Amino acid sequence: SALLPPAPTDGLPLIDISATGPGPAPLQQAMELSRRHGPALVRRLHGRDALFVSDLDLVTELADETRFAKHVGPALENVRAFTADGLFTAYNDEPNWARAHDILMPAFALGSMRTYHPVMYQVSRRLIESWDHAAHSGSPVDVPGDMTRMTLDTIGLAGFGYDFGSFEGSEPHPFVEAMVRCLEWSMKRLARTPGSDHSAADAAFKADADYLAQVVDDVIAARADAPEGDDLLGLMLTARHPDGSALDTANIRNQVITFLIAGHETTSGAMSFALYYLAKHPAVLDLVRREADALFGDAADPEPTFDEVGRLTYTRQVLNEALRLWPTAAAFSRHAREDTLLGGRIPLRAGQPVTVLAPMLHRQPVWGDNPELFDPSRFTPEAEAARSPHAFKPFGTGERACIGRQFALHEATMLLALLVHRYRLVDHADYDLTVKETLTLKPEGFTLTLVPRTSAD
Ligand code: HEM
Repeated sequence: SALLPPAPTDGLPLIDISATGPGPAPLQQAMELSRRHGPALVRRLHGRDALFVSDLDLVTELADETRFAKHVGPALENVRAFTADGLFTAYNDEPNWARAHDILMPAFALGSMRTYHPVMYQVSRRLIESWDHAAHSGSPVDVPGDMTRMTLDTIGLAGFGYDFGSFEGSEPHPFVEAMVRCLEWSMKRLARTPGSDHSAADAAFKADADYLAQVVDDVIAARADAPEGDDLLGLMLTARHPDGSALDTANIRNQVITFLIAGHETTSGAMSFALYYLAKHPAVLDLVRREADALFGDAADPEPTFDEVGRLTYTRQVLNEALRLWPTAAAFSRHAREDTLLGGRIPLRAGQPVTVLAPMLHRQPVWGDNPELFDPSRFTPEAEAARSPHAFKPFGTGERACIGRQFALHEATMLLALLVHRYRLVDHADYDLTVKETLTLKPEGFTLTLVPRTSAD
């Protein structure tokens, strides 16, 4: 079936963007197309068609694992150039996907988060120390930059016992810069016009990818003498699959790169958007603060336990609402297992991809008539129970959904609570949201100034 041309998508809006290309913000361009042309459309670029959907009924069908599966589309094919058969970019039928999935799943069960909790707390103290300095000197903090420092150190230490020490220098760790350039290369490569020369960009990419691999080899080598441990690397180096097999060295390297990227880039964006919305919504901020104050009281340096983080339910709602408006891994793709009709009207051949545009799914009528409004009460347990589970997909769907979801939510919830308990967040620059795209999404140039709270605040 791979040789068959895609089935015709007659009847769907077809928008050819070849004249302008996808630009620096392809995801937001696709959102704009969807706003204008509706929740199912075909975007044509240099003769290549991509089907985008955000309609709830269509997404509900696409979530049916008997009919559809994850598709490694052109963007992930590019990422494969540096993560190969790591979990995120592996093909469904690559043996290393199931092997690594089965070996690593226990490390991501909710209970395992207890193991990571102390490290997450330790790294949030690094961020707080750095923000205390900024508060003291009155200088603004670079929110996405610092969130990225925090999440990289967390996944490095919790996953691999490796310390990136991101708060020690004024520049981000070179691993972050190389990784962001690799992601940007993956994204920009999608927009290439046929026949143009990209050898310089490709050589720069190759150098960055080699550097990532070298950092990861150092991370692995640092553990050579004592591979055991209940972190991810310990599992990868020592655990056996029930069928007796183990992960090979090349695959472990791919997994470590995958986790270092997947484990920090999206979480840092999610926390940055949450802080952005808190800075803009004083009434919501007040509720988050009350929740934190109820738990931490007047403690100068509260150290929440694992279970206490689970009680920060409103803070968790705020994160969900931020992920609704700006899901930081904003699109995921599915393909039909067999020739089929999507929604009874869109013919698809086996293997033909469909991309779910999560930010637009998250603005469909099921979310009410003011979907742009930031309102965490959309995520009360009652509201969630009344809504289709397919209306909210920031972590993808099915067996290829995000393995690190609990990890991200635990880390982010604890940090947000600690921050609102400690500081008043001052939107000193009257920040206007600009969303930067590097395959993932971040609020660009978002800074805050901080004022330590006194018990009177
Ligand atoms: C997969 C989002 C945090 C590791 C995914 C997918 C999404 C996603 C949408 C599915 C992609 C697809 O279908 O193609 C997010 C978001 C996060 C987050 C929004 C933070 C707010 C994390 C963390 C980790 C992680 C903290 C690791 C510690 C992974 C891995 C996969 C994945 C390994 C691939 C799973 C597989 O296919 O077996 N994530 N993620 N993610 N995520 Fe996350």
